[in-house]
Amino acid sequence: MTEAIRKAVIPVAGMGTRFLPATKTTPKEMLPVVDRPAIEYVVEEAVSAGLTDVLMVTGRTKRTLEDHFDRVPELEAALEAKGDDARLALVRRATELAQVHFVRQGEARGLGHAVLCAKGHVGDEPFAVLLGDDLIDERDPLLQRMVAVQAQHGGSVVALLEVPRDQVGLYGCAELAQDDATAGQEDVVRLAGMVEKPDPADAPSNLAIIGRYVLSPAVFEVLERTPPGRGGEIQLTDALQTLAGTSPEQGGGVRGVVFRGRRYDTGDKLDYLKAVVRLASGREDLGPGLREWLAEWVASGFDTEAPTHAPVRR
Ligand code: UTP
Repeated sequence: MTEAIRKAVIPVAGMGTRFLPATKTTPKEMLPVVDRPAIEYVVEEAVSAGLTDVLMVTGRTKRTLEDHFDRVPELEAALEAKGDDARLALVRRATELAQVHFVRQGEARGLGHAVLCAKGHVGDEPFAVLLGDDLIDERDPLLQRMVAVQAQHGGSVVALLEVPRDQVGLYGCAELAQDDATAGQEDVVRLAGMVEKPDPADAPSNLAIIGRYVLSPAVFEVLERTPPGRGGEIQLTDALQTLAGTSPEQGGGVRGVVFRGRRYDTGDKLDYLKAVVRLASGREDLGPGLREWLAEWVASGFDTEAPTHAPVRR
């Protein structure tokens, strides 16, 4: 049996070029999804899977992230004085969720390099990596399942999503291997290897690797030896490819959990907008008003010329 996983690593040092100019001075993980920054959903997901030690690998825009997970005494005092307990609870929520630590990446040299920056904090135990622009709906737990699969089989575990074949070139793509150990677990597969952003015609499957990983600490040694790959960056996929071909005794072996739930890509502008609309539509406080307006808006044929009504202040 491997030991219980306690630590989550969240790399947030990317440039976020797809979301410029909003991400010029703000990390994309701080963009609000409805009314909470994306990163808060991700930390909550880690905590729900039992991981209460969270390390964020930050870059030049780390301040807002640090501040979000810190106390703000003057704001809390003002809300307390007004007796606004509901908003006070919302403000305190991020601070009370988990033990949050930070490490600097220095230079954005790729996701693999960001994960390597966590080596000193993680040590010699398996750990999870969560990417902040992939939001997994809390009603469809994925990380818990991945943690359980890692505990049962050892090695590393990636999250896989079936995508239309013409879109597989946007992701890392899994090449599957025969796996007797997981017979009967229809959501678990073993990976022979993986290819980063393949030409759809050459893609070994239509299973895309999405932003959740449970990794063996053996990944650190592999990352140290991994040269820059695609885009001049140290790719996590390249290190996983090596681990897929390494024996279990050396911490190798990579399995995948096929996720069939709701996932939102908030690093892409269009998908971000869809995520906000979907999540807000399902909320008790905002859903009824938003759905009513959406229905009218669609019925109007998306009339962008009509004057807007004055908003009702709540
Ligand atoms: P992406 O490949 O999505 O890159 O990184 P990006 O720079 O963040 O975004 P775009 O594509 O330019 O819009 C995947 C994850 O890895 C982190 C990012 O913060 C993101 O969560 N990352 C990437 C780092 O922490 N450091 C890096 O050097 C690169």
